[in-house]
Amino acid sequence: MLIAGNWKMHKGPGETAAFCAGLLEALGDVSDVEVVVAPTFVSVHAAVEELEDSGIRVYAQNVHWAEEGAYTGEVSRSMLIASGVAGAIVGHSERRQYFGETDESTAQRAAAALEAGLGVIACVGETLEEREGDETEAVLRRQVGAIAEAIPEPDAALSIAYEPVWAIGTGKTATPEMAREAHTLIKGFYPVERVLYGGSVKPENADELLSQDDVDGALVGGASLEVDSFTAICETAARLTRS
Ligand code: PGA
Repeated sequence: MLIAGNWKMHKGPGETAAFCAGLLEALGDVSDVEVVVAPTFVSVHAAVEELEDSGIRVYAQNVHWAEEGAYTGEVSRSMLIASGVAGAIVGHSERRQYFGETDESTAQRAAAALEAGLGVIACVGETLEEREGDETEAVLRRQVGAIAEAIPEPDAALSIAYEPVWAIGTGKTATPEMAREAHTLIKGFYPVERVLYGGSVKPENADELLSQDDVDGALVGGASLEVDSFTAICETAARLTRS
């Protein structure tokens, strides 16, 4: 089970260091669950320093496929590795929606990161309009299909995050059945080991979501910003792993 906190554009270096120190204290031994935090690029260093030797890994929120070059605003794989980062989120719906990321750029970023030895959480998910138009399966096939084309044989370093866009930051959560159906569908056409659920995961709903078949963890936004709520979700995952 993997629980990843996506901090989006929150927490500068000082807040990051304080949060990580608090998380270590609250969480204690995390051997039953893999825990990841994904701060903004400028806070990555603070997180890496604070979490050194702890087992909690630091991911970036994006990564570019080129080694270096004229790509203003981007960060390369080797830059992340040199900063002690263990992986990256790619293709988050906010990247797709506001910054023009596509199925292809997402797949390209994911393949390049894996090739460099980074872990990857590649995000997919339908909008409300697509769900209501009965297009969820087609959208997931298209989005995951682009990833499958670039990465035909996924290994454990790749996780897909199923994040229905209508459930992100809205307080609306997919029902456990919706999450399970989507995860089973994805695994049916792509042999990825781990599919995380994302979209308004919080301590109150973590148990029922994470106990579904084919739900192998969570990508948590809002509830990852507070030590208490993030810790509670990690502890739920650890308990379910043990049981
Ligand atoms: P949320 O965000 O938990 O705040 O809905 C999830 C995400 O965007 O990864």
